[in-house]
Amino acid sequence: MTLSLDTNLKMDATIVPTVAAVAEPEPLFRLARTPRPLTETLADLEATAARPLPQAMTLPPEVYTDEAFLKWELEHVLRPGWLCLAHVSQVPKAGDFIKLDLLGEPLVLVRGKDEVVRVLSRVCAHRGADIMPPGYTYEGQRACAEAEGPAGCGHARFFMCPYHFWSFDLTGQLKAAPEMQQAEGFCRENIQLTAFRTEIWHGWVFVNLDGKAAPLATQLAGMAADLAPWQPAEMKVAIYREWDCPFNWKVLVENFMEAYHHLGAHSQTFQSLMPAQDTWAEAERPHHIRVNLPFKQHYTPNPATDFPTIEGLPPADQQQMSVFLAYPGFMLFTGPDRLFWYRIDPLGPDRSRLVTTMLVPASLAAEPDYAAKIAAADQMLIDFHLEDMRVCTGIQRGLHATGYQRGRLSHLDMPVWLIQRYLAARARGTFPTLDRPAAPAQR
Ligand SMILES: [Fe+2]
Repeated sequence: MTLSLDTNLKMDATIVPTVAAVAEPEPLFRLARTPRPLTETLADLEATAARPLPQAMTLPPEVYTDEAFLKWELEHVLRPGWLCLAHVSQVPKAGDFIKLDLLGEPLVLVRGKDEVVRVLSRVCAHRGADIMPPGYTYEGQRACAEAEGPAGCGHARFFMCPYHFWSFDLTGQLKAAPEMQQAEGFCRENIQLTAFRTEIWHGWVFVNLDGKAAPLATQLAGMAADLAPWQPAEMKVAIYREWDCPFNWKVLVENFMEAYHHLGAHSQTFQSLMPAQDTWAEAERPHHIRVNLPFKQHYTPNPATDFPTIEGLPPADQQQMSVFLAYPGFMLFTGPDRLFWYRIDPLGPDRSRLVTTMLVPASLAAEPDYAAKIAAADQMLIDFHLEDMRVCTGIQRGLHATGYQRGRLSHLDMPVWLIQRYLAARARGTFPTLDRPAAPAQR
């Protein structure tokens, strides 16, 4: 996608605030908010989310700053949800793995010799050591260069815990444990690394930590139909970046989903391409949100910078981008020739780790100008993401400030309101639309 500016849409430069690009979020001084009981925050959430869109307002700040609320989310939102960890193109060969820590669980995602992708615990079945502690490699296992993908990715023939050299195959089955002959009834066939419930959906690897979620394929059937023309399982992750974020995970999700902020934060980038005023959220659904961002002008691919429009896209999708959220945190941004996929892991109420990626059809990698187009796209991704990082960093500081006041929402903030309704539904033990009428599309 070329972000060419439409000069007619540029506002008078003398009245438009501009902010210089910064490479890193500035250091923050945050005021400590006096905590209030979780029950009060949850009651406030329910009451706020029950307001109709024309009366909508922001949630109480504790939803974004309170340890107790994050603990509630772990139990009711995050561990019961389907969380996307990787795309299959990141582990193409048997033995390829990605090591990652998710919500306190040390995990390794690995493709087995049977081609099945599993998500295993890295907690050794002996005394609980991390089978792949920081910096650890051994012959037969290699770590990837960080620039090529997740910092913890590599390739292994098996896993060996460095504590007592217990070794496990790529399915997590214990294969060898030295000096255990005197342990009565010890049977290595009965010992495995804990495996978490995993589902591959359109090429993305999801995990459900509490093991109780309804099948993802059922939950996201509607979104799957929308995405099918892109054939995401046949795409590859072409750009991968990790970001340390000094803000709550939902600050990023809300920012990702609403296009109202094109008016301000992206006034020199997205606004002329996809004006905020033309964006619209589709009707409420139980497990996902879709927002459409029509192009201002008729789009035809620029051969210098764009890939060909993906074959078989519906006409509307050839002339717009769309953002999707599969609750709680699977974020997708679709364009005529590519997908952007974001994942965010909460590290605390005020800190998150974000991964931003771009996916393109795997078949394009052989094109002669592939590397140049990807490099240009990478720079564009950095540029517009820094615009968002700056805003989100400021929001988190604001949420802690005594000067903070809860604000009213625009109709263009509808995705923010839908996320409120999702959180409130989780507090009632259900999902949006299953116990209340669905909100209609915003246009
Ligand atoms: Fe943005």
